[in-house]
Formats: sequence, structure tokens, C-alpha cells
Amino acid sequence: MTQTLTFLGLESSCDDTAAAIVRQREGEAAEILASVIFGQTELHSAFGGVVPEIAARAHAEKLDTCVREALAEAGMRLDDLDAIAVTAGPGLIGGVMSGVMCAKGIAAAKGLPLVGVNHLAGHALTPRLTDGIDYPYLMLLVSGGHCQYLIARGPEKFTRLGGTIDDAPGEAFDKTARLLGLPQPGGPSVQAEAELGDPKRFRFPRPLLDRPDCNLSFSGLKTALMRMRDQIVAEKGGLTRQDRADLCAGFQAAIVDTLVEKTRRALVLYLAGNPAKPTLAVAGGVAANTAIRADLMGLCAQLETDFLAPPLRLCTDNAAMIAYAGLERFRAGARDGMDLTARPRWPLDKTSPALLGSGKKGAKA
Ligand code: KG4
Ligand code: ZN
Repeated sequence: MTQTLTFLGLESSCDDTAAAIVRQREGEAAEILASVIFGQTELHSAFGGVVPEIAARAHAEKLDTCVREALAEAGMRLDDLDAIAVTAGPGLIGGVMSGVMCAKGIAAAKGLPLVGVNHLAGHALTPRLTDGIDYPYLMLLVSGGHCQYLIARGPEKFTRLGGTIDDAPGEAFDKTARLLGLPQPGGPSVQAEAELGDPKRFRFPRPLLDRPDCNLSFSGLKTALMRMRDQIVAEKGGLTRQDRADLCAGFQAAIVDTLVEKTRRALVLYLAGNPAKPTLAVAGGVAANTAIRADLMGLCAQLETDFLAPPLRLCTDNAAMIAYAGLERFRAGARDGMDLTARPRWPLDKTSPALLGSGKKGAKA
């Protein structure tokens, strides 16, 4: 019997409070009936990063409004739902707890099944939500909070090939923008400056390329940039527009080269498994970068691999990906009870060694 499932998804692990409703008839494409996101950027802008206590309070205040709006957008009531999926980690623990408590409240009140979802699995399954691609595929998550390579083999089966040992690339773009007095978020403003600059004038390091693995490191780039900036200021008394553009171009070229080379290594490992229809999918805000995208597409063309970048609104944090990942887990038999706990750390691949560090958006998984 084919079964149609309608899921409410909740997301509150970082600085976006989100609720969404996703429906899927078994064997058919999933449909996003509603997706509501309340961003918290303004609440944190004065602090140079996400403040966990402010985030948790804002999530607790906004979650039920989000759910109400999502139901209204879909023209539904809670009684029309089959289950609730909620991000249960990894992330800033106060925010994750707000979401888990809200989901438990609705599940208990309405007698609905509850499914806890790993936020990273939400991102990693997005290409199945948007394009219905088959397992296995290679996933590159690149955002302000995440950076890792995963082979997705099933809703709970992931192999992590590597990831950042310190900053995420979006974090590096944001810090660079701050160091050069450019507006936040840093990615788009650094990219715009880089387009006017000479990437060869300043030589930035290509971190960890001397190591054969797929791990990355981005925190040294901002230190290099700070030194270069300070040297120009000491010599000339300040930065010209061209100096700034050249610094951005050099910095961005280092990120592009590093990501492309590490992606090549990840693709070689993935292709060794002979996938029937090889695909590299990217998700996360940094995937919006035109230079990164262009070079990753070029690499995929060389290696005869399809390149897939879901629409940006589904690449960045949202609850549709959580509803969908919950739906897949549910179909595979997963159920959680009232003892579902919020987890600050939750690696998708339990067999791979922990990566070091903690980013501006919480612990690295
Ligand atoms: O996925 P996302 O919206 O949020 C999380 O990190 O969870 O990603 C936001 C990050 C920010 O650090 C932002 O600077 C970066 O993505 N970003 C970019 C670009 N657009 C956004 N980085 C590089 N180039 C861009 N065009
Ligand atoms: Zn995320």
C-alpha cells in the first residue's frame, strides 16, 4: 500500500527559527507545502557572532508563531499532520532544547509520532528533497557553521571523508569582511570586492594541501590577511580600494583552490565505490559563491560527475529539510519517544574520528 505522509518540521539549532510542512506519497517527489523562517541576524549583529542565550530565548518565543504560520500557509490544522520531525542536534544546546520541547508538546497534545533529526542529515538529504536523487552521492556542506564531505548512503548511513578542523569557510569570509571593514554577511561583500581585485598580488597559504586527506583548515587565512593588512597600513597609512580588492581576491582564491583540491580527493574516494550515476551535491550559504561554484562545476565536468546545487533557500538553514529527513527516517522505521534529548554534538558518521574545534555557531559535529 502506498502511503502519503505529511510532516511538520522544526529547526532551531542556530540563528534561524523555522517550521515547515512537507508531504510525500511513497515513491513520488516530496512537496513543500509551507516553509517559514524567522532569522535572528539583527539580534546578534552587535556582538560579532551568535550569542547562544539570546538565540535560545528568541527560538522559544518564535517557535509557536512559526508553526502557526506554517499551518496557515499550508491551509492545514495540527490534526492533518502524520508526525513531527525536529532538529535534535548538533547545535547551540539552548536553541535545540527549545525546538525539542516544542515538538514534544505538540506530539503529546495531539498523540502524534515524534522523530528527532540530525541537522546535518537535514542538509545532506536536501538533494533528495529537491531533485529526488538516488543514494549514494557525495555531499559537500559549506556554510558559516559547517564544512564537511559526506557520502550519503541512506537516511542514517553516512561516511564522513573529512571536514574543517577549525573555522567553517563562511566564518572565514565573515571574519575577513570584518577585518577589512566590509558589511556582514561577509561572503557576498568579499566576493564583490574580489571580482575587482588581483588574486596574485598577495600570496595566501593553501592550508593542509600538503596532507593527503580531505580535512580542511581556514583559520590561518584570516591571520595571514590581518598581517598583510597591517603591513600595508604601516607602510602607507591606510588601505586603498585596490588594496582591499586585491586582499579579497587573494583570500578568495585560497579558499577556492583549497576547496577544489580537497573536493577532488573526496571525489576520487567516492568514485572508487563505482556509483551508478555519480553526483556531487553542495549545500550551505558558501555554495552561493560564484567562483567556488564555477570551479567545482569544472572539476565535476573533468571527473564526469553531475554537479547539483539545490536552490539557496533550501541550502541554508530551513525546516523543510528537517521535515523531509524526518519523513525518510520514519519510513525506515525510526520513532522517538518523550525521552528524545537535545545533543550539542552529534556526528553523522560515528566511525570517523572527531574533528577539532568549535565554530562561532557552536560545536563542530
Ligand atoms: O548556510 P548559511 O546561511 O548559514 C549557516 O552558516 O548556518 O551560511 C551563511 C554563510 C555566511 O558565513 C556567509 O558569509 C556565507 O554563508 N556566504 C557566502 C556567500 N554568500 C553567503 N560565502 C561566500 N560567498 C558568497 N557569495
Ligand atoms: Zn545548517
